[in-house]
Amino acid sequence: MPSPRVTISTLAAMKGRGERIACLTCYDATFTRLLERAGVDVLLVGDSLGMVLQGQETTVPVTLDQMVYHCACVARRQERALLIGDMPFLTYATPEHALATAGRLMQEGGVHMVKLEGGAALVETVAALTTHGVPVCGHLGLLPQSVHRLGGYRVQGRDAAGARTIRDDAVALQNAGAGLLVLECVPAALAAEIRASLTIPVIGIGAGAGCDGQVLVLHDMLGLNTDRPPSFSKDFLAGRSDGVAGALASYVREVKAGTFPGPEQTTV
Ligand code: KIV
Repeated sequence: MPSPRVTISTLAAMKGRGERIACLTCYDATFTRLLERAGVDVLLVGDSLGMVLQGQETTVPVTLDQMVYHCACVARRQERALLIGDMPFLTYATPEHALATAGRLMQEGGVHMVKLEGGAALVETVAALTTHGVPVCGHLGLLPQSVHRLGGYRVQGRDAAGARTIRDDAVALQNAGAGLLVLECVPAALAAEIRASLTIPVIGIGAGAGCDGQVLVLHDMLGLNTDRPPSFSKDFLAGRSDGVAGALASYVREVKAGTFPGPEQTTV
């Protein structure tokens, strides 16, 4: 019998019983099959595709047409995992624009949930999306679409004021109806505190092991990003004899066991 599909209710139940959620980015049909077979719970068609597939410096140039194309490639092979698609830069600046963007990602791209970057300023947008049946994943901490405003890819929330803003933003997104939250590049203690204070699951990337789940960029965890491998990632393919499938299975195992990220991939 095929395993039941992962939904946002599945993820909430996993948080409730302390079962960690394994998420990876995915951009094409071939990898979708491999990630599904490895037991990855959530596939994120991230706008990181601008950097890892297109060779862009940032995610800013990624267009909605490009996101829809890659979401549809993944949706064609997706069977069990929950499929999330990123809303690209400046495609959700107003609630109306966000509804139109989400409509394309869900209807043409086949995603089950959309992800957007930002906090309290997006409360109205998140409420409009969820009211109209669009499940929303928030994204706080390091916001890659705001890299030019942030002045680089840096850990966020190190000082008291920054940490307070991220905490408050997390609660605001949850109260507006977000069903999931990604926390990127924040100190592990702050991420663990936010995870404990929210009822919705929190997926970390560079945010320590105290989250409800983990996400990595596929190319980073397969050791393919040789230019700028992030310090919080790990090459799961290195030294294996069982190839990509073995690396993906090992990632899922380590996330579920709570052994990834370890101290060497953790920001304090
Ligand atoms: O675009 C992306 O891949 C992401 C992850 C890094 C969380 O947002």
